[in-house]
Amino acid sequence: MSGIEQVGVIGGGLMGSGIIEVTARAGLDVIGIEINAEAATAAAERIEGSLRRAESRGKIESAEVTAVLSRIRFETDLDALADRDLVVEAASEDEQVKLDLFGRVGQILTNKDAILASNTSSIPIVKLGAVSGRASNVMGVHFFNPAPVMQLVELIPSLTTSTDTLDRMRTWVEEALGKKPIDATDRAGFVVNSLLVPYLLSAIRMYEAGYASAADIDRGMVLGCGHPMGPLALSDLIGLDTLKAIGESMYEEFKEPLYSPPPLLDRMVDAGLMGKKSGHGFYPYESR
Ligand code: CAA
Ligand code: NAD
Repeated sequence: MSGIEQVGVIGGGLMGSGIIEVTARAGLDVIGIEINAEAATAAAERIEGSLRRAESRGKIESAEVTAVLSRIRFETDLDALADRDLVVEAASEDEQVKLDLFGRVGQILTNKDAILASNTSSIPIVKLGAVSGRASNVMGVHFFNPAPVMQLVELIPSLTTSTDTLDRMRTWVEEALGKKPIDATDRAGFVVNSLLVPYLLSAIRMYEAGYASAADIDRGMVLGCGHPMGPLALSDLIGLDTLKAIGESMYEEFKEPLYSPPPLLDRMVDAGLMGKKSGHGFYPYESR
């Protein structure tokens, strides 16, 4: 038993809304935290839209959609997390934002055994533990996008995470959520992004250098290698701001040029072209 019943999720963007949905579908009570009421409403709509889509495909009953939604509530004040057994932080990939959140939430949680986990793709877990005042209860729990569909969760203890925290998170991920964990160490990029991000950034460099059109680069990897989507479409799905931030963290840690975001990615983010979530990236999108 993980002892995790009451869950909080900070950030209701692409990943936070998916993690909230998965947790509520597992029968657990979830509080989502967003920066303001507008962002909270957008997150709630994203979750309901995803559930309605599952309903329209016959994967969930209408009554169950209502029950899942009744287990979710949104707040804008971190104090609402005080009674939680687990808080998963899924705010923007920005080290300062996460350090601030871990410093504050570490003091707010009243249960001394409560776990504070980050869904970060690349920021050192040990730093988040150090500012939290409860380093032994802090670890990385890295879901994949879209969280309701992807089976994998990377479990990342830091140098200061206790084995009890790791064991309880593994039990929660496997038994409560029905996901499949792999173990990773606290290095920027963990396992999957260490392999995926240089591939995605190489595809952007290839497009930037004029090797081929975006559509043909993507068709090459879909039709030639059996990937479910090509690297530029996948970059759009991840979010170009998030991909840039992940590349920067990985480059800062390893100084490996393949991790460094290419100029085109910087320019696209500066232009507000964030990918699918903003309606435009390497491709235009009608619905977000
Ligand atoms: N929420 C819930 N369900 C969703 C969903 C969402 N956001 N998106 C798709 N689905 C479900 C659909 O309902 C559908 O289910 P059924 O087949 O059971 O009806 C299934 O997923 C397939 O969806 P679609 O038919 O609409 O579309 P598709 O076949 O093109 O699949 C996809 C979409 C699942 C995204 C697929 O293209 C895919 O697997 N792409 C690769 C995704 C990937 O690589 N993710 C990892 C990103 S990297 C990361 O996450 C780490 C990081 O730190 C950046
Ligand atoms: P996103 O941009 O879609 O959403 C981030 C959300 O965090 C926004 O809604 C924003 O309002 C909210 N936020 C920012 N500061 C906040 C704060 N102080 N308090 C509460 N909410 C705050 O980003 P995302 O794609 O959901 O990524 C979130 C985290 O998940 C990042 O650490 C990212 O690296 C990681 N991640 C992303 C993916 C992906 O494919 N996008 C996959 C796995 C992990």
